[in-house]
Amino acid sequence: MRYLLHTYGCQMNVRDSEAVAACLEQAGHLPAINEADADLIIVNTCSVRGKAEEKALGKLGLLCAGKRETPLRRVGVMGCMAQRRGDSLFKKVPGLDFVVGTRRQAEIPGLIARLDSGERDIVLLDDSSAHPEVPSGHLAPQVASAFVSILLGCNRRCAYCVVPDVRGPEYSRPAQDILVEIQTLVASGVREITLLGQSVMNYGRSNPVWAGVQEASSPYREDFPRLLAAISTIPGLRRLRFTSGHPSGCTEELAAAMRDLPMVCPHIHLPVQSGSDRILALMRRGYTANQYLEAIACLRTAVPHLAVTTDVIVGFPTETDEDFELTRSFMDKAIFDNAFIFKYSPRPNTPAAAMRDDVPASEKQRRNQALLVDQDVRSQRLNDACIGQTIAVLVEGRSLRNARRWAGRSLSNKIVVFDPHPGLAVGDEIKVRITQTAPQTLYGEQTDALDQSVSQETHTEKV
Ligand code: 5AD
Ligand code: SF4
Repeated sequence: MRYLLHTYGCQMNVRDSEAVAACLEQAGHLPAINEADADLIIVNTCSVRGKAEEKALGKLGLLCAGKRETPLRRVGVMGCMAQRRGDSLFKKVPGLDFVVGTRRQAEIPGLIARLDSGERDIVLLDDSSAHPEVPSGHLAPQVASAFVSILLGCNRRCAYCVVPDVRGPEYSRPAQDILVEIQTLVASGVREITLLGQSVMNYGRSNPVWAGVQEASSPYREDFPRLLAAISTIPGLRRLRFTSGHPSGCTEELAAAMRDLPMVCPHIHLPVQSGSDRILALMRRGYTANQYLEAIACLRTAVPHLAVTTDVIVGFPTETDEDFELTRSFMDKAIFDNAFIFKYSPRPNTPAAAMRDDVPASEKQRRNQALLVDQDVRSQRLNDACIGQTIAVLVEGRSLRNARRWAGRSLSNKIVVFDPHPGLAVGDEIKVRITQTAPQTLYGEQTDALDQSVSQETHTEKV
């Protein structure tokens, strides 16, 4: 069968889609070139905001309507919305063949075989009490960078968030599985790994993880820094990142690990959500604005040029203009390198859904826009400070906008577009001199290939 995956949502879904593709190929299926060519189409869905679900439902509706012309095609849904809505999706999307939750992707090839033998409307939802089977497969990726899930689910109960409900309680994958998965990726050419989890620094707190790992004596006692140290010993890997974080995980030990392990990039994605203590308490985030600032100060003391990016929700129930202005000034104090701004969207069965969604849509839009404009100014200012600097860039491939130029990432995760030297390959680590900037992009010229020693020196550089 020729398969196609459509992926919505976060990096966790991107990673899950890669794993499903690998499972399908192991079972003898092949990737389709486009929709018309596909016998099996799977939509991997997100539930985080109402809009994300609407988009996926729209896509599924179109795909299933298209089955009138291609009756043999199978259409399935996986991911967070599949888990959340379960078999009600068969009613909502007539013609849908199967629904798979967030922890049962490994069973998809078996499910296809069941469809082939005439079974219909198959549903595989998570039973969080069962031990999740995480497919560790990836496609042989011709890419520089890959995601690896280390922590599934979430034990926090932020008032607005649907994730704990859909992705279940926290489960930390065994360190041994993670190390083997990364070794395999590095052997296939990957140079940068991003570790994924909803609250990644909680790694190891949910269940024991070290069985079978022969560690050299580690200077770290906390599991997450220990994991970073263990991964850092994998030969051939150049860069290690992780996302997302929570201020409670920003410990002295994590700061020391980020300072002392050269492979760990000077960047952290640390969602703040609001700068108003009143709203933070209603959101049940578990910290105040000042505690958040202390958390990033702790990391910045150890890693002076740390880039910090964040998520913010505007228009949470009862958010006043005053609360909003607190968020606005907070973002100036925190000096975020980048920020993703979301308009609050009530999600079924969350504590916040019991509150009235009382900020009008037009006001949410105004606040959203104001923060975006502020952030553009801030990012532009931070990026301008890089002009004239020569920075380390991991090459990702040709630029999407202009195929003569190439693009890669700085250590701080900024997109760098540059004029390449001949013979450049994906996965090379090079030096680029920055000549121009935009809020989201640095532009420059390749100066030279970068060897390992230079790369480690530039670790402490701003970008
Ligand atoms: N409404 C709006 N934004 C949300 N997020 C999570 N839940 C909601 C919601 N109900 C945002 C948060 C989170 C990001 C992934 O999505 O900012 O960090
Ligand atoms: Fe969307 Fe959250 Fe699920 Fe990721 S974990 S796909 S952001 S609902």
